[in-house]
Amino acid sequence: MTVRLGDIAPDFTAPTTQGDISFHEWLGDSWGVLFSHPRDFTPVCTTELGYVAKIKPEFDKRNVKVIGLSVDSVESHIKWEGDIGETQGTPVNFPMIGDPDRTVADLYDMIHPNANDTQTVRSVFVIGPDKKVKLTITYPASTGRNFDEILRVIDSLQLTAGYKVATPVNWTDGGDVIIGAAVSDEEAKQLFPQGWTTVKPYLRVLPQPNK
Ligand code: BEZ
Repeated sequence: MTVRLGDIAPDFTAPTTQGDISFHEWLGDSWGVLFSHPRDFTPVCTTELGYVAKIKPEFDKRNVKVIGLSVDSVESHIKWEGDIGETQGTPVNFPMIGDPDRTVADLYDMIHPNANDTQTVRSVFVIGPDKKVKLTITYPASTGRNFDEILRVIDSLQLTAGYKVATPVNWTDGGDVIIGAAVSDEEAKQLFPQGWTTVKPYLRVLPQPNK
């Protein structure tokens, strides 16, 4: 099943390294990041999981719950986590879904037969508190993800959920933003009384409004 932006994230129950979960209930009112990796005991995945563990406080600060998945069992994940803590410097501090029968992987279309039909690809789903999918990214097995970029996108998603703005190329939190194309100048005067710079009628720039 293809999961598209704006879809309700498919719900499921699954075993994890921190006990059985019902996904939507586990998310509660938080944002969520569900990410898959090809297999346990593989090198790129080891570095990714170690890094996510290291920056977990950054996800916590943003009210985002993080959960990993591969088509291995919870028992396998738990054994592998020993290696991750030992080699990457931070013990894994978020749940990992065991999915040996591929229930969740199939639900989220994480198996790509063109790449390998027995492994999950490196998928990322960012889910909002409304349970809707806000971001999907798919990387090939050979390329480790940039989780700082995922935090950057979450900053943009959380900002644009509250203000009628968009974020420009390479924006990071605190940078100038753009007034949404659907917002008229009249409405913008109400929304942004502090004013903005009109570079072109369709390109109106202002400092980030919540800073
Ligand atoms: C890795 O995590 O290193 C990896 C996993 C599957 C295929 C290629 C690389």
